[in-house]
Amino acid sequence: GASMRRRLLEAHRVAAEYFRAQLATPEARIARDFLRERGFDREAAEHFGCGYAPQGWSHLTDHLRKSGFTEPELKASGLVSEGQRGVYDRFRGRLVWPIREVTGDVIGFGARRLHEDDQGPKYLNTPETQIYKKSHVLYGLDLAKGAIRSERTTVVVEGYTDVMACHLAGVTNAVATCGTAFGEDHVKVVRRLMGDTGQTQLKVGSHGAKVVFTFDGDEAGQNAALKSFALDQQFLAQTFVAVDPEGMDPCDIRQRDGDDAVKRLMERRVPLFEFVIKASLAAHDLETPEGRVAALRTAAPIVAQIRDRAIRPEYGRRLAGWLGMEPADVLRAVSQAG
Ligand code: CTP
Ligand code: MN
Ligand code: MN
Ligand code: MN
Ligand code: MN
Repeated sequence: GASMRRRLLEAHRVAAEYFRAQLATPEARIARDFLRERGFDREAAEHFGCGYAPQGWSHLTDHLRKSGFTEPELKASGLVSEGQRGVYDRFRGRLVWPIREVTGDVIGFGARRLHEDDQGPKYLNTPETQIYKKSHVLYGLDLAKGAIRSERTTVVVEGYTDVMACHLAGVTNAVATCGTAFGEDHVKVVRRLMGDTGQTQLKVGSHGAKVVFTFDGDEAGQNAALKSFALDQQFLAQTFVAVDPEGMDPCDIRQRDGDDAVKRLMERRVPLFEFVIKASLAAHDLETPEGRVAALRTAAPIVAQIRDRAIRPEYGRRLAGWLGMEPADVLRAVSQAG
C-alpha cells in the first residue's frame, strides 16, 4: 500500500546516499577512473548522483538493516537478491546511477560492471518493484523535464553515460530508457510533459512536440530505431533519428570530439520515416534497374504503412528521388503495397 511505497522511497534515499559516499573510498578508485576516462569530472558525478556499490555480499543490506528497514521491506525494494541463506546485495563492485522519478525521488539504480573478473552483465538494473516500472522509467527525466517542456522536444539516448554526456554538452532535454526499448508507456510520459495530448492531428511542418532518437550506430541501435517505427503513427510524424555515421554514441562523441560535436549530432537529425526507408534501401544496388526495382519492392510497403494521407504521398515522392525513379511509378507501387 501507500505506506510500503513510502518506505521503499526512503530505502532508496538511504541507498543512494550510501553509494555516493562509497565513491570516495580507496576501493572505488576503479569507478572514479572510469568516470574520468569518460570525461566526467567530480562535479559531473555529483550532479548525477553517481555512486559505487562495493564488492562483497552484505554492505548495503547491513546498512539498511541498521537504518531500521525490515526483511520484507528489503525484499520488496529490489535492492537485494534472495538466496537460500537469505538476502544479499544486488549491486556489487559496480558504478551506480540513481534512477529518479520526475519528482526527484530515487526509485531504482542502474549499475555498470567495472571489475575484470565480474561474470555478470555489463549493466544491471533494479527489477520491477512497487515503485520501479521499467516500461515507464526514463533516466534523467528529473533533470530534463524543464528543457523538455520549454523546447517541446525530447532527446532519447541509449544509456546512462549518454544522458550525462548530452546534459554536459548542453543538450539538457536528453533521457534514456533503463534496460528496455522505448515503448508506448514512454511515449505517454514524454507526450504529457510536452503538452501533447495525442488527440490533435499534426500537420507536416507544424511546430508540434518532437522526439529525437539517438541510437548507437551498431546493429542493436538500428534495430531499436526500426522497432520504434511500430509505435503509434500519430507520434511517428513527430519523430526523428540522429545516428552518428561512425556508430559512436553521444558519450563516445563527447569524449573524442567535445561538446559541440554532440550538438552537431542532434542538428543532423532526419525524420524517422526517412531513416527507416533509407535503411531498407541499403541492401540493394541502386546502380542497376534490377536493384532499383528490388529496392522499391522493399520500401513501398514501408511507405504504405504511413497512415497519414498527407504524409504518405510526400514520402512516396521522396522515395522516388532517392531511387531515381518516376514519382508516379513509385506512388503506384505504394498504393499497390497498401
Ligand atoms: N543495457 C542493459 N544491459 C546490458 C547492456 C546494455 O541494460 N547488458 C542498456 C544500458 O542501459 C545501456 C544501454 O542498454 O546503457 C546501451 O547499451 P550499450 O550501448 O552497450 O551501453 P553503453 O551505455 O554505451 O555502455 P558503455 O558503458 O560501454 O559505454
Ligand atoms: Mn572491464
Ligand atoms: Mn550499443
Ligand atoms: Mn552505447
Ligand atoms: Mn557507450
